[in-house]
Amino acid sequence: MTAGAQPRIDLPRLLDRIARLGQVGAIEGGGVSRLALSEEDRLGRDLVCGWMRELGLAVSVDRIGNVVGVRAGREAGPPVMTGSHIDTVRTGGRYDGNLGVLAGLEVMAALDDAGIVTRRPLAVAFFTNEEGARFAPDMMGSLVFQGGLALEDALATVGVDGTTVGENLRRIGYDGPAPVGGNRVHAFVELHVEQGPVLEHEGDTIGAVTGVQGIHWIEFTVEGVSNHAGTTPMALRRDAGLVAARIACFARDLARRSGGAQLATVGQVNLFPNLVNVIPSRAVFTLDLRNTDGAALRAAIEACLAYARQAAREEGVRVSHRVLADFEPVEFDEAVVARVEAIARRRGLRVRRMPSGAGHDAQMLARMCPTGMVFVPSVGGLSHNVKEYTHDRDIEAGAGVLLDLMLELSEQ
Ligand code: GLV
Ligand code: MN
Ligand code: MN
Repeated sequence: MTAGAQPRIDLPRLLDRIARLGQVGAIEGGGVSRLALSEEDRLGRDLVCGWMRELGLAVSVDRIGNVVGVRAGREAGPPVMTGSHIDTVRTGGRYDGNLGVLAGLEVMAALDDAGIVTRRPLAVAFFTNEEGARFAPDMMGSLVFQGGLALEDALATVGVDGTTVGENLRRIGYDGPAPVGGNRVHAFVELHVEQGPVLEHEGDTIGAVTGVQGIHWIEFTVEGVSNHAGTTPMALRRDAGLVAARIACFARDLARRSGGAQLATVGQVNLFPNLVNVIPSRAVFTLDLRNTDGAALRAAIEACLAYARQAAREEGVRVSHRVLADFEPVEFDEAVVARVEAIARRRGLRVRRMPSGAGHDAQMLARMCPTGMVFVPSVGGLSHNVKEYTHDRDIEAGAGVLLDLMLELSEQ
């Protein structure tokens, strides 16, 4: 690097950006609602793009709406990239994803302050629809960026409100001109809140993330017969709601029997006609299955599907399903993981290696370049919750590790 002063994170500047972005789509309780490609997402994007331009980054928007800001290096070539997402679940916090993007901007600002030009270019990105809460699958933008999902298929995806990714991208003006696929990235590193309790519980400040567990999302549709709640004997019902409940309980029991690594969540349930005195004729619900072990995850999926068929037979209803997301477990680059650990130790921070329970854009970038992640603690292990919080000192620590990591990777 061409030397100037020692670069350092300006915590108040980073916190100010987190607070200002957190005001876009703010909801009661201190949280944020910025579903992918919503009006709030557009406003958040505009704000972050403005900051990118203020920092003199060369900003491009690609055809799936991913935004990349590049800071030139002394040499041309693929950048060392950081970034994450700024979309949120409907009842999200202000840190999930946002921290990684804004810490990336702070790295750029810190280098500007110190008058440093790195050997390789640096880039900070935010990827479209990481959450998958409106359009499945999650990590959609980074998946298209990496080439794992065709642009046309992503654009045609219909969301929970019946509209497509493509029409919403056009509506908010982020159907950019830059082509997707064929991007080259030297290395990718993402700072993120842990979203779980481990770091806080262990008294560690930094997680050197070793990989991301496998994720499988299924949407079930159960079709029975609506009838009167007061006149239909229990034995003669074809109750779609009951079968949904049975599958949900089975998945939970399966996960508990499997002893820890298997997770199962029914997060969305829609019953029709959804009335107090009518047996449901239809249930549409989602099942989120995760496991760090790919083979065990496959077995859990098969067991849930087999049980769904059995319960449907027993209750005289029809069940069908479609897969909304399917991602194998991912291992991050050992050299990057070791570098995160070494940097944290050098900075006097307690660090532990750990897998990620949540999905992240980094798991898609890992398919194309050496990749790693840095976690900082989530207070109370809370995330996808308006009360999500990370202490300022931990934000400063994580951003400092990200700064050193990007500097090292840019010179290497
Ligand atoms: C993304 O936030 C996921 O892990 O569901
Ligand atoms: Mn996230
Ligand atoms: Mn999330």
